[in-house]
Amino acid sequence: MKDPKGISSGPENPQRRTFLIALIAGMGGFIGFILGGSGLYYFLSPALRGKKKEWVDLGPLHNFKEGQPVKADYLQRKRDGWEVIDSSGVVWVLKEKENYVVFDSHCSHLGCPYNWDSAKEQFVCPCHGGIFGKDGRVVAGPPPRPLDRIPVKTENGSLFIMLEEKA
Ligand code: FES
Repeated sequence: MKDPKGISSGPENPQRRTFLIALIAGMGGFIGFILGGSGLYYFLSPALRGKKKEWVDLGPLHNFKEGQPVKADYLQRKRDGWEVIDSSGVVWVLKEKENYVVFDSHCSHLGCPYNWDSAKEQFVCPCHGGIFGKDGRVVAGPPPRPLDRIPVKTENGSLFIMLEEKA
């Protein structure tokens, strides 16, 4: 269809119209895919990425006595932009010969902090009477599994434990 000046104003070619509709639909789909995909990635990426781990210094090796569990404090530092956040924690370290075993300081039952009874040579949890051997195995009480062990390494005369980075 042409106006009085001879300029085309309507769809003369149905194929062209179909092509333009398909092009617009395709562009809309592409934009929707990009926006939806990036939004989905934004929400799911923390779960998919998993937590990062880091080595945390527990101090010089000579702090830990042979055959006797020692309670050790640690400081974990997190940098968030210009802000530095320190958080502290406690673990139990057992040195046997040249090996170091580090136990999480929370009972494997419901997470209470437990203590070392040097007279009985056992870890004792005050909450529900859980008792663990020096090697962390369950001796008595409700704990369903041994004490949790934390990966360790020695480097430059110090002991390090591997922990999840603080969020
Ligand atoms: S929390 Fe330790 S025995 Fe229950």
